[in-house]
Amino acid sequence: MTPPDFIQRDIPLADLNTFGLPAQAALFAAIKTPAQLASLIAWPEWRDWPRFVLGGGSNLILAGDFPGLMLQVRIAGRELVAEDAAAWRVRAGAGENWHDFVQWTLDRGWPGLENLALIPGTVGAAPVQNIGAYGLEVAERFAHLDAVDLATGKGVTFDRAACHFGYRDSVFKREAAGRYLITAVTFRLPKPWRPLTGYADVAQELETRKIVHPTARDIANAVIAIRSRKLPDPAQMGNAGSFFKNPVINATAWTHLAARHPDLPHYPQPDGTVKLAAGGLIERCGWKGKNLGPVGVYERQALVLVNRGGARGADVLRLAQAIQASVRAEFGVELEPEPVVV
Ligand code: EPU
Repeated sequence: MTPPDFIQRDIPLADLNTFGLPAQAALFAAIKTPAQLASLIAWPEWRDWPRFVLGGGSNLILAGDFPGLMLQVRIAGRELVAEDAAAWRVRAGAGENWHDFVQWTLDRGWPGLENLALIPGTVGAAPVQNIGAYGLEVAERFAHLDAVDLATGKGVTFDRAACHFGYRDSVFKREAAGRYLITAVTFRLPKPWRPLTGYADVAQELETRKIVHPTARDIANAVIAIRSRKLPDPAQMGNAGSFFKNPVINATAWTHLAARHPDLPHYPQPDGTVKLAAGGLIERCGWKGKNLGPVGVYERQALVLVNRGGARGADVLRLAQAIQASVRAEFGVELEPEPVVV
């Protein structure tokens, strides 16, 4: 049986990952409808190929060519599915651009996602890594998602509990990695809306703008301004956002570390653990603004690695390992990469 006609061969991926890393996919298919996905799963060779589901490519490091079938999710659509006294429920196709979706909800007068403005990537990728910024994680606005089980072709729904959300983590990065293709996500935006302005950068930005009672739009604009100042625009300089998670250590480890480094930025967590600022650790190791070959550490945010031009996956991984080794030697802390490496 001939493969579905929308499958392409030897497709370059440099424009499909925000780090701008060169690599090829042996097979590539853009998925615009669930029916298209069904015809792909019915193709007899479907099972023979390794698969990878691609969203906006903003949390991805391509270590080399991908010898399998890359599926790019382009499923569109945005709608208000329900509104009652307690919440708005808004649904979007997994291929929708995240930031455009956030702007659209604000334009319609459905606040709640404003702290997550300007995060690169797609709606479908948002729950996979539980995107978070400026005091909000998407898990807190999540109702459920629709997915297709790539092993059986059947549709499945995941509610919030089934997603096992954690800090930059979900079931889709662990037990269920690679098994499902997310087709749509439904968000619950609670009423009455309350501004989340506790994050120091946001509070400071609003103060500078002399805004005392911010609207959701004011908060989005503040977040957009902060992100634009601190984080490189992938269209200008290849990057994958924060390259490492902020490490969480236990109270005893923190006591020992604080004895040697009392000035380290740290955030005590409700469960007694302590979250450290990975950017702070990297900066204190002297990496901020430094390069290793064609990759570097961004001068305004040490947690972001950037493509200085012509970088390959191996260059990125080499710099990441050098940074991990420095932080381990200086602080005895392990940094865990945040993007998915393929
Ligand atoms: N810091 C430094 N030097 C740096 C960067 C940070 O010392 O170069 C220290 C400072 O003490 C600063 C603290 O780290 O106050 C926190 O920095 P920032 O507010 O920039 O946040 P972050 O912890 O570095 C996290 C997320 C970002 C998110 C921001 C804002 C992770 C891995 N990263 O970064 O998310 O935008 O908070 O909420 O949790 C992403 O995931 O790709 C991402 C950009």
